[in-house]
Amino acid sequence: MRMVDLIAKKRDGKELTTEEINFIIEGYTNDEIPDYQVSALAMAIFFQDMTERERADLTMAIVNSGDTIDLSAIEGVKVDKHSTGGVGDTTTLVLAPLVAALDIPVAKMSGRGLGHTGGTIDKLEAIEGFHVEITKEEFINLVNKDKIAVIGQSGNLTPADKKLYALRDVTATVDSIALIASSIMSKKIAAGADAIVLDVKTGAGAFMKTVDDAKELAHAMVSIGNNVGRKTMAVISDMSQPLGLAIGNALEVKEAIDTLQGKGPKDLEELCLALGRQMVFLANKASSLEEAEEMLKEVMLNGKALDKFKEFITNQGGDASVVDHPEKLPQAKYLIEVPAKVNGVVAEIVADEIGIAAMLLGAGRATKESEIDLAVGIMLNKKVGDPVKAGESLLTIHSNRENVNDVITKIYENIRIGDHAEPLVLIYDIVT
Ligand code: URA
Ligand code: CA
Repeated sequence: MRMVDLIAKKRDGKELTTEEINFIIEGYTNDEIPDYQVSALAMAIFFQDMTERERADLTMAIVNSGDTIDLSAIEGVKVDKHSTGGVGDTTTLVLAPLVAALDIPVAKMSGRGLGHTGGTIDKLEAIEGFHVEITKEEFINLVNKDKIAVIGQSGNLTPADKKLYALRDVTATVDSIALIASSIMSKKIAAGADAIVLDVKTGAGAFMKTVDDAKELAHAMVSIGNNVGRKTMAVISDMSQPLGLAIGNALEVKEAIDTLQGKGPKDLEELCLALGRQMVFLANKASSLEEAEEMLKEVMLNGKALDKFKEFITNQGGDASVVDHPEKLPQAKYLIEVPAKVNGVVAEIVADEIGIAAMLLGAGRATKESEIDLAVGIMLNKKVGDPVKAGESLLTIHSNRENVNDVITKIYENIRIGDHAEPLVLIYDIVT
C-alpha cells in the first residue's frame, strides 16, 4: 500500500477501507508516514469528508494506536460524561457524586489541561489533601467499593490523536466534523467507558459557535459511539453565557456543593439533571428518563449525593469538612464588585471573554507551565435576562492582586446591558 495512492483516493472523494485507515494511522504513529503526507490527507478529508463507517474505523484505529484502560474489573455499566468544553462548566463535579449516589460506577480519568479555569482535577485539588495520584488497583477497588474515584491521566493513550491534532492545528484542518468527532470519541473509548453521554456546547464560549454545527458534531459522535458498540447520546446545550454563577476552581467546588443539595444555580442544576438522567438510563438503573430524573432529585434532597461527595473526598485523602464549611476552601484576598453603569436588562455575557477575564486573574492556565491560583475567579451576580439598576453589582471579582483594572475593562466590554434580552435556550436538543 502506498500513502500517495490513499491521498489521491480520498482527494477524489472515494471511501477508504478499514485496512487502508489502519495502515495510515499505524504508519503515522510509528513515524513511517511523514507529516506532509498526513497533512495532505487531512485536507482531503476536510473537503471530501468521511462516511460513518470510515469515521468509526478512524476512531478505532486511533484507539488502537496506544494503551487502553481496562475497566472490566469494575462491576456494572461504566458511563462516562464528556463536555466539549466551556466556561464555568461545573457539571462533572456535580454529576460524578450525584450519579455514584445511585450506585452507578463513576471511574473517571481526568486531566488538567489549558483553559479559563483548571480541569476537574485542578478544581478538586482546591480541597486540602485531595489527590489523584492513586494506583490503578486502588482506583478500581474504590470504584467497586464506593462507586466513585478519579485518577490522573496516565499511560500512552491515543498517541495518534496527539500527533494528528497538533498537525491539524498548523494545517488549517481542525474544523472537520469527521476529524473532530473521531478525535474526541477515541479518547473516551480508550479510557474504557461502556456508555458515553456527551454535552456538546454551542455559543460564544464553545468550540461549535452555532447550533447547527453543534448538532452535526453531536450526530457524528453519537453515530461513531453506537457503531463501535458504545451506547452514546448527546445533549446540545448553551454556552453563550457562562454556566452557573461561579468561574474559578474553589468557587466551582462551592457551587457544586450547593448544586448537590438542590441549592445551586438553576441553569447548572437543569443541565446536570438532563445529563444525569441520560447517564442513569444508559446504566440501566431506570426504565424511563422521567424515573431517572426523579431518582436524581431524590438523592439531591435526601442528602445522599452530598454524603457521596464527602466519601469520595475522604477516600482520596481530602478534608471532607469543606463540604459543611466551604469557608475552608482557598479564599482570595480581595473581593471587588463590578457595578452596572446604567439601568436595564442584562442582554449578553460573552462566555469566552469572561472566561479569559477569569484566566487573567490566575484561575486558568495560559500555557502548560502556568500555575493556577485555586482561590481566584468570578462570581456572577446577574445572568442574561436579569434586570439591573445602575450601581448594582454585576459580578464579584475574587482576586489575589489588588489592581484588576485589566480584568474590569474586559468585563465591561463583554457584558451588554440593553432595554430587553432575547430569551436564552439552555438545552437545544437531545441526540440519540
Ligand atoms: N477537541 C478534540 O479533542 N479534538 C478535536 O479535534 C477538536 C477538539
Ligand atoms: Ca459554574
